[in-house]
Order: sequence, then C-alpha cells, then structure tokens
Amino acid sequence: MTDIHPEVHERRILGTELLWAFGVGILIAATLGMIVFTALTMGINPPSNVERIDPKTLHLSGEFAEHNLGTTVSPAGDVTVRVVATQFMFVPRCIAVPRGRRVTLRLATPDVVHGILVTGTNVNTMVVPGFVAQVHTEFIRTGEMLMPCHEYCGIGHSEMWATVQVMSESDFKPGPDGRVSCAQR
Ligand code: CUA
Repeated sequence: MTDIHPEVHERRILGTELLWAFGVGILIAATLGMIVFTALTMGINPPSNVERIDPKTLHLSGEFAEHNLGTTVSPAGDVTVRVVATQFMFVPRCIAVPRGRRVTLRLATPDVVHGILVTGTNVNTMVVPGFVAQVHTEFIRTGEMLMPCHEYCGIGHSEMWATVQVMSESDFKPGPDGRVSCAQR
C-alpha cells in the first residue's frame, strides 16, 4: 500500500467500518423489532415473570402444595393452572382447561431446569429452580394435547410429559371448590 496516501487509506477503512456498523445496526433493529412485534401480536414473552420461589419448600405450603395443584377457577372466572415439574413427571399428569378462555399457567420445579411446550400454542417456557414460570394462553380447539418436557433434565427426560385436556365451555364445570380435573376415560 505504498502508492496510496495514508489519509486515503484511513478513509477507506473508516468507510468499510461504517458500512459494517450500518449493517449490524439494521440487524439489531430488526431483531428487537421482531421481539416487540411478536410480544404485542402473538403474546410471546420471555419465560418467567421473575417471581421467586424457594425450590426446597415449594411443595410444603402455598400455591404449589399438592392440594393446590391443577386447575382452579376463581369466583371472578379466572382460570389458573398450577403444575410442578419434577424429575421425571409433571404433577398433575393431566390438566383440564376450557376452550376459548384466557388461561394462566404457573409452573415451578423443586429440582433441575425443565421446559414445557404445547405445539400450536404460545406455551413454551423453561421452568427454572427458584422461579415461577408463568404463561398466559388461550386454547382454540377442544381435545387432548401433549405437553412434553423440552429441556434435558436427566435420564428420564424422554418419559416426562403431561396431557392437556381442552374442554368445551359446557364440559368445563368447576366443582364447589372451584377445581376442575381431567375427565376420566
Ligand atoms: Cu423434565 Cu426434561
């Protein structure tokens, strides 16, 4: 590069750098834009709402004690499903939800990182020890869906799944205590 004046050389480097910076800037803007777009239009949010829970005691009392797990309908009609993900099962193994209504899923784990996924819905989150994972969703069709664990959690990972029973509004009848269980077949 002896025949090029140093200042011209510098300017060329600057030009290339700015071009790359511009390209990367567009990529970052597109990525952030996509995150905001999917969050607003498809309800896709980062997993967990940064709500802490002690993994060592969550099963002893409070909302993740065994008698509180499963589906509960509040007097106001809000549907909340509480599930514990543990090596290597979900408790309960089947959850009942209504079709066409907003459902809040709340999950916690006492052991390692698990994940949940329901194909065709926005339900897709990790369940991290120490945190409550929360997802809002709405199921469109009645019938049974599979909710597998999709985060490798140990030797029994592939055997870990739950069933989601999506019921029509007439089948989804809470008992006097506001609880709904899967229909036995
Ligand atoms: Cu739990 Cu994989």
